[in-house]
Amino acid sequence: MSEKRALFTTKIGVIAATVGSAVGLGNIWRFPYETGVHGGAAFLFVYLICVFLIGIPVICAEFIVGRGTHKNALGAFKQLQTKPYWQVCSYIGILASLMILSFYSVIAGWTLEYLFQALTGAMASGNTGDFSNKFNEFCTSPWQSTLWTVLFLLINYLVLRRGVEKGIERISNILMPILFVILILFSVNSLLMPKSSEGLAFLFSPDFSKITPTVVVGAMGQAFFSLSLGLSVLLTYSSYFSNQVRLVRSASIIAILDTFVAIISGIIIFPAVFSYGATPEEGPKLVFEIFPSIFSEMPGGYIWSVLFFVLLFFASITSTISMSEISIAFFVEEYKMKRKKATKLTTGVAIVFGVLSALSFGVLSGYTILDMTIFDILNYVSSNILLPIGGILFSIFVGWVVDKDFVKKELTNNGTIKVYTYRIIIFLIRYVAPISIVLIFLSGLNLIRF
Ligand code: TRP
Repeated sequence: MSEKRALFTTKIGVIAATVGSAVGLGNIWRFPYETGVHGGAAFLFVYLICVFLIGIPVICAEFIVGRGTHKNALGAFKQLQTKPYWQVCSYIGILASLMILSFYSVIAGWTLEYLFQALTGAMASGNTGDFSNKFNEFCTSPWQSTLWTVLFLLINYLVLRRGVEKGIERISNILMPILFVILILFSVNSLLMPKSSEGLAFLFSPDFSKITPTVVVGAMGQAFFSLSLGLSVLLTYSSYFSNQVRLVRSASIIAILDTFVAIISGIIIFPAVFSYGATPEEGPKLVFEIFPSIFSEMPGGYIWSVLFFVLLFFASITSTISMSEISIAFFVEEYKMKRKKATKLTTGVAIVFGVLSALSFGVLSGYTILDMTIFDILNYVSSNILLPIGGILFSIFVGWVVDKDFVKKELTNNGTIKVYTYRIIIFLIRYVAPISIVLIFLSGLNLIRF
């Protein structure tokens, strides 16, 4: 049965859509706080190694499977391998995507609250106040952040149900470049702050003694999270690529752009952290405590704050749509569910765990396992464990299981282009990526020491 599938027609379209999934709260919220918690430049150093030695090859692996079969995740695995156990990749994908959707929506809900605050002028120039206290009150209150989480998931639901992804994608293709530009403006603003050099030193001058197994596990998890890796999201996107798209080149551009946005966010946040006397180890709340102060001290703070949170909201929803699609497609194809029902089910699960995560900043903060709240557990287990396991499986599948000619054909566009890095990429996919992920896991579990 040959079904016609839409293809991205322009090179820019390919990059824009994939970057849209990659760039999101992971870059602007998660990267700065993870860097802050894990000691700054040393974390960034390990992060960069993970992006280039593990991230890019695993992106290529997902692309090879997706573009090579032009099918969704499950169909792709079925076509390439009859052994049913490889489909475990899809199960990990749906579990991790539901977990990420749940806690991600809490932060996207905070973004909505901040947009609301920005509109009321709370962050307008000169309107300085104790933002950190106000924010703490907000996220510990039993209903406020819960309501925003649910509201965000309902918006996500409406977008998915109406199937207007196309429209959203078009809007985000316009808004994402604007986000890029204003992030650069904000970083200039931060560079002019009194303690910007302390912030930059924290971000860029590494103290290698700070590299511990926890830092390495965190950096690898952040790389997977930020690049949307391991869940078959990139596999699915690349199934829409035309046969002319150069996979290695596209993977590299996506990784570089995504990393660029993360580093720019660091350049915005850390000079401000030091200039306002805050501490970098604050955790998930860091960025939300710092941004209001930045805006209130900026000329034109009102308009910048509104614009910024609108853009951040769009960046979040393009990411949550890509996550939700994984489980919706799964329920539809595996359980022959109607799309509407599958969308409701996905949203329902995310609301339950999203609300529990939202409450874990307040009334449920006492419920912890290994010192982690419900939010922390969903965040940690999905990014630092499930996504890297997805990465191991993808690299082994493409490196060792799939027919070599198939891989070669995909990487070289059927022999029509010369890929100078061909041997390096294959080596990274076969050996470096799976072995280093396993070693990082073992060291994280304290089973081996470097
Ligand atoms: N990469 C996105 C971000 O940085 C989040 C995201 C979207 C994601 N889709 C994903 C993370 C799939 C892991 C897997 O905000």
